[in-house]
Amino acid sequence: MADPATPLVVVAATANQHKLDEMRAVFGAAIELLPRPAEVPEVVEDADSFVGNARLKAVAIAEASGHVALADDSGLEVDALDGAPGVESAYYGGGDHDDAANRARLVSELSGVAVAQRTARFRTVMVLRWPDGREVVAEGSCEGRIGEQEKGDQGFGYDPLFVPDGSDGRTFGEHSADEKNVISHRSRACLALLTELGFTD
Ligand code: IMP
Repeated sequence: MADPATPLVVVAATANQHKLDEMRAVFGAAIELLPRPAEVPEVVEDADSFVGNARLKAVAIAEASGHVALADDSGLEVDALDGAPGVESAYYGGGDHDDAANRARLVSELSGVAVAQRTARFRTVMVLRWPDGREVVAEGSCEGRIGEQEKGDQGFGYDPLFVPDGSDGRTFGEHSADEKNVISHRSRACLALLTELGFTD
């Protein structure tokens, strides 16, 4: 699929600068991410799975640009909420990618839930798609729990509420970008993608 000696140039399906920064930090020189073409309309993410939504975005960008496209779809699965917000993560608070509203609803839904029952995970599914229909799918996840209140202002989305396992009790919102990238769902999906493509062992 890729020549490990040559960087793979792909068009990003996301315009989220946080996601782009996180992905570029892991890809290094192996994959060059070009910005999302501004003229491509927003893709309606109406699939019922992360991979389905990632594929919708990757296909739209690959077809519009004629280049290899990379899309990621991510979300938070909370065990006490039977996996919600899941694929609805971006719209959980009622708006469209309204991070503050999404976090407020999550805090409210988990009100009174004991620490031991607040387990959750972030998941990322990436679809790398060629215009001729070939694709590579890679996934990453990060286990943790949902805090009772927001802490920290780093990162984005649900980061101020997510306390990753194996860390020191700080939320992702209290992690530097480099610290988050060592353990995050997105960095793990990026590494899995590099492995699938033959860039790493
Ligand atoms: P999407 O992949 O852009 O559709 O993201 C779905 C939702 O999950 C959005 O509300 C994002 O803010 C949130 N989200 C995705 N990745 C992360 C992350 O790494 N940290 C915190 N929230 C995230």
